[in-house]
Amino acid sequence: RESRQRAESALLLAVVTLLLIRQLLKQRRPRGFPPGPSRLPLIGNVLSLASEPHVFMRKQSEKHGQIFSLDLGGISAVVINGYDAIKECLVHQSEAFADRPSLPLFEKLTKMGGLLNSKYGRGWIEHRKLAVSSFRCFGCGQKSFESKIAEECLFFLDAVDEHKGKAFDPKHLITNAVSNITNLIIFGERFAYDDREFQHMIEMFSENVELATNAWAFLYNAFPWIKILPFGKHQRLFKNAAEVYAFLVKIIERFSQNRVAQSPRHYIDAYLDEMYKTSGDPEASYSKENLIFSVGELIIAGTETTTNAIRWGVLYMALYPNIQGENEKEIDRVVGGARFPCWDDKASMVYTEAVLHEVLRFCNIVPLGIFHATSVDTVVRGYSIPKGTTVITNLYSAHFDEKYWDHPELFYPERFLDGDGNFIKREAFVPFSLGRRHCLGEQLARMEMFLFFSTLLQRFHLGFPPGSVPSVAPRLGMTLQPQAYCICATRRQPDAKCRTGKF
Ligand code: HEM
Repeated sequence: RESRQRAESALLLAVVTLLLIRQLLKQRRPRGFPPGPSRLPLIGNVLSLASEPHVFMRKQSEKHGQIFSLDLGGISAVVINGYDAIKECLVHQSEAFADRPSLPLFEKLTKMGGLLNSKYGRGWIEHRKLAVSSFRCFGCGQKSFESKIAEECLFFLDAVDEHKGKAFDPKHLITNAVSNITNLIIFGERFAYDDREFQHMIEMFSENVELATNAWAFLYNAFPWIKILPFGKHQRLFKNAAEVYAFLVKIIERFSQNRVAQSPRHYIDAYLDEMYKTSGDPEASYSKENLIFSVGELIIAGTETTTNAIRWGVLYMALYPNIQGENEKEIDRVVGGARFPCWDDKASMVYTEAVLHEVLRFCNIVPLGIFHATSVDTVVRGYSIPKGTTVITNLYSAHFDEKYWDHPELFYPERFLDGDGNFIKREAFVPFSLGRRHCLGEQLARMEMFLFFSTLLQRFHLGFPPGSVPSVAPRLGMTLQPQAYCICATRRQPDAKCRTGKF
């Protein structure tokens, strides 16, 4: 019996040694790969990413160059820093950098299907094309869509007004209002601000956006077997994802009822039309499952980002009353008080535009973009990057690139204005990323930000409750969001009636 025990122990030791050797071999940098910081055995650089990974990466680029490598626990990743290097990869080699990495977490959540996480290939092309055409037909491609955003702005203003100038956290209101714009495209309807089920789904989803960059998520990618551990934040991520999936199944079913073929009312109908049209084609990527993934991705990509951009905007207006004052003056001069701001006003509201651009630059809503992967073996700046390598685009580093921005660490909207006060486009401004996978909702996001922000400042003056100045340190995740804060929104014209549109 003793000798059997000894044999079992020897076998266990041999297995563990073999696994260790395999892991250490996986950690070797491929030949010609960019250099990078030193790594720990097994977990590589994962621990360095625990707090402010975008800042860590920018600092490392000063030592190792704009293109360097990291070891995510046996997963070799390349980090691209600075505007020039990002443009070289995402624009000059757009196809080579257009894939998404097949990391265990993404595999588990979306099976690399859907749209945002989809591998580069026919599936992605079909889903992106359908989403773009749905945005055109049911979204900001239609002139009538602007009035739907304006209508949502009114619901939003009313809800703000209910606080009667008292302190409140605007997060939930902004989230509800913003998600309703995407809901109009996906479901053809808005949801009431007290729809608890929908709100709960968004909360689960946004928590996952935060958890996706937690050290546990990186560990799961490196060692997927940790799924058997009963503890760890990855378990919460899976639980949330399962809840969101079940909700999406139910809601898609509800909104596809009474569908008339070839007469789409919204994205879901348009998707089902394509799915049935291509049902005889074994290569076609449309499926019930990919519909669920893409609906989820559109909801969260549209909500989490734009909501955080507006929340940062509100926070900075309260923080810098002089900037808010300039904004108010411009709104009063261009729009006045008798009507609401509209999209055509944008051309004359250069200061508001400059403020919104500075919010997107300074606050870095998606600091590391969404992870890319190489779709073929490629060479950039003399480094060889094999097919399938995870590529991290540090968009934050482009926004703080001293070659393109003077004093990038200052919040200074005037950097987007020339000496005559005209708006100027800045090349290194890349909040929506670049290349083939650039943000599909950019136009929609710009419209929402402009209309929500300018109608809010037309009606209300924003300030912090007496004695409180919130932190501007971001909460970390795939997106950067402000810490919870409260504002007081006081009517600029005391007798104004929000719903009637009259002061
Ligand atoms: C301020 C708001 C927004 C910001 C800062 C933002 C930023 C980004 C960024 C950085 C990416 C990654 C691009 C890449 O992989 O290189 C992205 C992708 C994407 N965004 Fe946005 N986004 C915003 C709003 C929206 C909205 C409103 C929608 C739609 C409702 C949307 C839908 C998407 C989709 C579907 C992708 C994936 C594209 C693909 O993989 O082909 N985004 N966004």
